[in-house]
Amino acid sequence: MKFLIILSLAALALAKVRFDGHQVLSLYPTTREHIDLIKEFGSYDGFADFWSPDSADLAHIDQKIDVRFRKESLRIVKKKLEAAGMSFEVKIADMQPLIDSQFDVPRKNKALFGYDYDVYHTYDEIVQWANDVANQYPLLAKYEKFGDSYEGREIPRLTLGTSASNPIVLIDCGIHAREWISPAFCQCYVNRMLSQYGVDTGVTAAMQSLTFVVLPVLNADGYAYSHTDDRMWRKTRRDNGGFCKGVDPNRNFDANWAGPGSSASPCSETYYGPSVASEPLTQALQNFVLSNKGNIKAYITFHSYGQVFIYPYSYAVQDAPNKAELDAVAANSAAAIESVNRKAYTYGPGYESMYLAAGGSDDFSLDQGATLSYTIELRDTGRYGFLLPESQIADSCTETYEGMDVITDYVRNSL
Ligand code: ARG
Ligand code: ZN
Repeated sequence: MKFLIILSLAALALAKVRFDGHQVLSLYPTTREHIDLIKEFGSYDGFADFWSPDSADLAHIDQKIDVRFRKESLRIVKKKLEAAGMSFEVKIADMQPLIDSQFDVPRKNKALFGYDYDVYHTYDEIVQWANDVANQYPLLAKYEKFGDSYEGREIPRLTLGTSASNPIVLIDCGIHAREWISPAFCQCYVNRMLSQYGVDTGVTAAMQSLTFVVLPVLNADGYAYSHTDDRMWRKTRRDNGGFCKGVDPNRNFDANWAGPGSSASPCSETYYGPSVASEPLTQALQNFVLSNKGNIKAYITFHSYGQVFIYPYSYAVQDAPNKAELDAVAANSAAAIESVNRKAYTYGPGYESMYLAAGGSDDFSLDQGATLSYTIELRDTGRYGFLLPESQIADSCTETYEGMDVITDYVRNSL
């Protein structure tokens, strides 16, 4: 008997989390009371999973709020929404089928067709890929370990370009685990910069004048966990002592750390951590930025979803010294993206477009001299949210290349 209980507990711990009947609702709060109700939903651990914005504290009036609720909670949630007179819409009626159908691109034979950039890869596959491309393009790419994660995984780093002494464009993907389109973009972008070198004049010039430091899967532990256990995992995997694991790495940076829009609670998706830069990935990124001070011309961190360019500051209602420049480059970059597949991107300072969220990597990098600092929220605007199907990877990549080119051209012209 005892044995059976232990066995089933172990099975429970090993089982992949399922999302049968879970729904994502879009809420449209218009009053203070509506916001209070949303905050109430957010106050019970594990009750509401905020997709956009990232936590209940960031909710404000006249903004669409996407939240996932478990099947068991939906009746009471809808009853409360109706009683409060808050309009809402069922955005995703059942998450599990969508989770199963994200993998909607047939796998190609690697031996025949090479690495598949149109599918979602695991952490192990990405590390192997990063090593492989560095071997394949020894004159243009170098693989290094960027750091070690909390659980001891290697955080991969690729350095691209013809000369390591050129000014740096620093790009990271996958700081939030469940935002799978982000690591997918880093991979296709690297492939494009390597395969188009000597073919495309813009790519060739960029590779000759800039050093691209690409961190394709920064939150290695979280990303691995989102594949093996919980598709909706966002944070790192730190053991916080209690039941709730993980720190929000994008609230953990030395940028008004523990300030507004971040949480002291280990159970929150925006938990800022036990101390500033407590997470190994935060430390690795901070150290890189500090030791290359003056040489990092642009910092771009890819997230999803929302189709937004966010630039500093998010840690306070404060304008970046170069706000006009940040705004103009974002506008041009957004226009370039839109010109490809008619996907519209918005842009603006974080405090305005997302509301305050302290401790982010974009604000940290700007304060350390990376004057072009952007968080880019990739596709979509909520139809699939984090569960963007693989069949949208290729188009997301091609449109985002154009946006990246605007930024890197601007950097090159300002050298
Ligand atoms: N969705 C991102 C996050 O919550 C937005 C980051 C914007 N920048 C910031 N420093 N908060 O992490
Ligand atoms: Zn994110």
